Amino acid sequence: MFKKTGIAALVALSLSAGGALAAGGEAHIEDVDFSFEGPFGKFDQNQLQRGLKVYTQVCSACHGLQYVPLRTLSDEGGPHLPDDQMRAYAGQFEVYDEEIDDFRAAKPVDHFPMSQLENAPDLSLMAKKRAGFHGPYGTGLAQLFKGMGGAEYIYSLMVGYEEPPECAPEDFEGSYNAAFTAGGYPDECKDEHGHPTVPGSWISMAQPLWGDDVEYDDGTEATLEQQSEDVAAFLMWTAEPKMMARKHAGLSGVIFLTVLSVLLYLTNKRIWAPIKGKKTS
Ligand code: HEC
Repeated sequence: MFKKTGIAALVALSLSAGGALAAGGEAHIEDVDFSFEGPFGKFDQNQLQRGLKVYTQVCSACHGLQYVPLRTLSDEGGPHLPDDQMRAYAGQFEVYDEEIDDFRAAKPVDHFPMSQLENAPDLSLMAKKRAGFHGPYGTGLAQLFKGMGGAEYIYSLMVGYEEPPECAPEDFEGSYNAAFTAGGYPDECKDEHGHPTVPGSWISMAQPLWGDDVEYDDGTEATLEQQSEDVAAFLMWTAEPKMMARKHAGLSGVIFLTVLSVLLYLTNKRIWAPIKGKKTS
């Protein structure tokens, strides 16, 4: 029986590992080794601070983070900004206050603003919305070992802008992105069944990052890849701020249950030993 469960577990593991890679379907999703992947993974505080900078200076022109309270920027396990920096950061936004019926500077208890551009989606939960394959039967095994996939998707989207494929007419609206499959396609890039013949699709967001869009305080070089990784990590944190606490709880649960099972097994054997012993003799 133990052999069988062992094999089943192995199969489940290999399925989940393979499945995570296939999650993007045909679209081109890159596998990035984020610090927060794996059962012991953690957010990298410096990376989250760099990602916050990219979000603030580039993405926030269009995208909001309306579900994220500004005070969480100083949470441990997150960007962990010193209190005064977090307050100063909050103060740069204006929010509408019903009580005074006017706008005022945002306070730590307020949330990030909503999207400035109507058709730009809110990014608070985007990394979870675009999460990858969850492992067989939604066990979450793939996520435990390979990460959620959502950060990889955002990274791939940032670096996925390419020259449009040849099938497309030159004036087709939008930018071609190899990681994006939810957009439109020109008829010329579809086969006779209406299925697209190209891996990506056209997105109405113009390429937001090019490299050197921000200047990092910690001396990190602001390449396109680096900025994309940092903003993807930051958006993973906004979507799943308690990921580390959850992982710890899960892991201690598993360890506890394992020890308990072994103890119960041994106790059970011992209790029944005299009776079982009689039978066989
Ligand atoms: C000029 C405005 C603008 C800026 C700046 C901008 N975006 Fe967007 N973004 C959009 C619009 C519009 C869409 C909707 C695109 C669509 O559905 O075709 C979008 C969509 C997205 C999506 C969702 C894609 C999906 O799968 O549906 C993500 C993720 C995203 N943006 C991330 C970012 C990040 C990260 C930045 C900053 C580095 C950024 N955006 C900067 C306008 C912008």
